[in-house]
Amino acid sequence: MDAARIKAWQVKATPWDAGDVQPAFRELLDERWDEVGVSLDALKDGKALVAGCGRGCDAAFIAAHGIDTLGIDLSPTAIDVAKKHLASQPGAPSNIAFQQADFFAFPLPNDERFSLAFDYTFFCALPPEPFRKQWGARYAEVIRPGGLLICLAYPLDGNREGGPPYSVSEEAYDAVLSDHFEKIYSKHPSQMAEDRPVGRDKMLVYRRQ
Ligand SMILES: C[S@@+](CC[C@H](N)C(=O)[O-])C[C@H]1O[C@@H](n2cnc3c(N)ncnc32)[C@H](O)[C@@H]1O
Repeated sequence: MDAARIKAWQVKATPWDAGDVQPAFRELLDERWDEVGVSLDALKDGKALVAGCGRGCDAAFIAAHGIDTLGIDLSPTAIDVAKKHLASQPGAPSNIAFQQADFFAFPLPNDERFSLAFDYTFFCALPPEPFRKQWGARYAEVIRPGGLLICLAYPLDGNREGGPPYSVSEEAYDAVLSDHFEKIYSKHPSQMAEDRPVGRDKMLVYRRQ
């Protein structure tokens, strides 16, 4: 799986790369955040993590909201693309870093756990066995108590065989997070990417207990 992803970046076979912030994530932070019931300011004394960040647009969007952000990706090419893309954006935030790292093994910067993490198309890129349980356990390890994990769940398309992307369900996220996280928000976005049928994405927010 890892080698395939790294190769995908090298040969520019990255169909998931929207080249912009996910509209559903923009909507949540800019229009619906009141519904989550947690102050964004309360997360600013910590850092945000975007694992499997790809081009890094979602990471930069978080940073632009005043939260220092780290985007990591296993692929050095992805990190190179993310750095170049950021540098090409007028008014890009400066409170952001991109680093080539393995989500499952990277050392926490300064031994500090994150106050926020955003996960989009990372969960569905991982073969369910054995990675989903490890994914949930790792987020529990790297997010501090009270910190948030925002998941844009995709693709919610039942029990389709094979992947990536592997089919996901809200229950699949709950199953690997509920030991350490409380789900505080669950709603379909109103703005869908043009190529996404309504109902294939859902925004889920979990709070680390
Ligand atoms: C489907 S892509 C999604 C990229 C990005 N989130 C986006 O929406 O454009 C999944 C990304 O996860 C990265 N990845 C795979 N395994 C990883 C790991 N163990 N640690 C960090 N990144 C990983 C891949 O290199 C790839 O860029």
